[in-house]
Amino acid sequence: MNIKLDLKNALPFVGGEIGEELKEQSLRALNTLVTGTGAGNDFIGWLKLADGHNKEEVEAIKAAAKKIQGDSKALVVIGIGGSYLGARAGLDFIFGQNYNNIPKETPDIYFVGNGLSADATYDVIDMLGDRDFSVNVISKSGTTTEPAVAFRIFRGLLEKKYGATEAAKRIYATTDQARGVLKGLSDVKGYTTFVVPDDVGGRFSVFTPVGLLPLAVAGVDPDVLLSSFGDAIDACTKPDFEANIALQYAAIRNALYRGGKSVEVFAAFEPSLRFTGEWWKQLYGESEGKENKGLFPASVDLTADLHSMGQFLQEGTRIMFETFVKVEKSNREILIEEDAENADKLNFMAGKSLTWANHMAMAATTTAHMDGGVPNLTISLPQRNAETFAALCGFFEAACGISGYMLGVNPFNQPGVEAYKQFMYALLGKPGFDALRKELSDRGIG
Ligand code: PA5
Repeated sequence: MNIKLDLKNALPFVGGEIGEELKEQSLRALNTLVTGTGAGNDFIGWLKLADGHNKEEVEAIKAAAKKIQGDSKALVVIGIGGSYLGARAGLDFIFGQNYNNIPKETPDIYFVGNGLSADATYDVIDMLGDRDFSVNVISKSGTTTEPAVAFRIFRGLLEKKYGATEAAKRIYATTDQARGVLKGLSDVKGYTTFVVPDDVGGRFSVFTPVGLLPLAVAGVDPDVLLSSFGDAIDACTKPDFEANIALQYAAIRNALYRGGKSVEVFAAFEPSLRFTGEWWKQLYGESEGKENKGLFPASVDLTADLHSMGQFLQEGTRIMFETFVKVEKSNREILIEEDAENADKLNFMAGKSLTWANHMAMAATTTAHMDGGVPNLTISLPQRNAETFAALCGFFEAACGISGYMLGVNPFNQPGVEAYKQFMYALLGKPGFDALRKELSDRGIG
């Protein structure tokens, strides 16, 4: 696995080293994870996603992607949370945040159903125009309101454009193998379906068809993703503290948390990693934020946010530490040229690359923040591509399982997500929620 972890700006805040007790705790947590003896052990199927058992499914994903590439100029991906963020993060990470606007042979990809905004939904309808398109609707439960509403809208558009029979050939449903409204609808209408495995929760599902199909449509080879993810899982589940950076990451974040640092800020100097930060926030926030425990995961885009959040990071409440993700080499390089007039007084940087300047900005930031009382860690990747995206996800997922067990929570459930849903169902008038609707009405809500 081609990822490195540098703790030198964090260790001084935990006494200079990670103590033996913490190391042992991390190893015990890893053992709980890999032996499936902890809470939530029916949701650890993601550890085995790359063991080759799903070869047939991977071939089906490639075939579907090829068909979509052949008959569509755009793919509309409908999903929310774990059924959205992995594909979105991967697309941006690998191709940059302007995938839809760069010249390419593959279809544009639009994400909807990750909210209920009419304007955002209409924008996508406008951008589709009269182009040929397909839909990949993703919902493990098959009952989530936001994607269900979006699917009704885009299914309607497809049926109007192509007729019901042709439309059905352009709809790909990724859902539970047996349960849920979406599965029932797919069976009746004859959509091509892909399965979200029972033992893989949403936020751990990017390397199931949930993420593999949209990324394959963009031209990313599922075999490359799975192989790199599998290598990362192997490396991150080795019971060797000095060699396993997932153990080290889990240990240092728990050490900092116990020392009063209750906010972890994901920080990257590449805008293409913005959605990796969003994916990471869901992974750690949903896995650890329960029973009144957990680090609050936040994120910043640098250097941009140094001009907005920089003041707080440098001098605000000392409750946070930062996790920097550094990309060593840019995919394309730009040199700062010598200017004969030097009216902008920038010739001192002439001959240097923009990546060098970015790295110097990062070195300046990590040092200033450490001096200001903000511990920071750096995760380094050689370059942005499919392999490093999958490796980074594998590292973060394994570390999340270990870290959650160290914290003493079940990292694989999300009971707190249900609370708003119950109220929303009542307010939207869903059958079966009359009593709750009345209760809310008595409180003046709705
Ligand atoms: O991680 C999770 O379990 C959640 O974020 C879900 O992915 C999200 O709520 C969407 O659920 P579903 O795929 O059932 O529509």
